[in-house]
Amino acid sequence: MSDIKIHDKIFEPFISKAKIAEGVKKVAAEINRDYAGKNPLLLGILNGSFIFAADLFRELEIEAEISFIKLVSYKGTSSTGNVVTSIGLEEQLADRHIIIVEDIIDTGKTLHSFMPELQNRKPASLKIATFLTKPDALKYPVKADYNVFEIEHKFVVGYGLDYDGLGRNIPELYILKA
Ligand code: IMP
Ligand code: MG
Repeated sequence: MSDIKIHDKIFEPFISKAKIAEGVKKVAAEINRDYAGKNPLLLGILNGSFIFAADLFRELEIEAEISFIKLVSYKGTSSTGNVVTSIGLEEQLADRHIIIVEDIIDTGKTLHSFMPELQNRKPASLKIATFLTKPDALKYPVKADYNVFEIEHKFVVGYGLDYDGLGRNIPELYILKA
């Protein structure tokens, strides 16, 4: 694997396809164990999570369902700043075991704003599975229950994650070259 250029920036190989597959399998095994007989509903957050969600879902051997939502963030009129709301969330969440599937928790802002909307629908349980976390970037109290990789506070692309629209189709993870 060698460096790649996306738009104006150079990225270097970071996590291989094999390592990713191994990590996803591990998290899937935890979910298989924790949710047997519970028919969890995985809720993938678009766009970034679609690759991880598909791979994770295929590794589940228990009864499970999946759906996707898109979060729209806009400036609220109040001083609270950005408001995050979802489109396409038609499923009944009451009394369901929900697992949010994210590509990355960076500052935590997105999920911190969105979790109350889900809690309001009275799920039986609500957990978070994320492909990546950047602990040094975290600014909001969001904790992943399932996490494939913790990474340093640097920009990454590939495996569903983009840099300005590009790079989502790269099967490995690349990191911004210093
Ligand atoms: P948060 O709300 O700050 O946690 O940001 C989450 C969103 O920011 C993710 O769902 C990504 O779309 C985007 N993001 C954060 N860090 C990266 C990165 O390193 N590469 C690509 N997208 C990122
Ligand atoms: Mg993005």
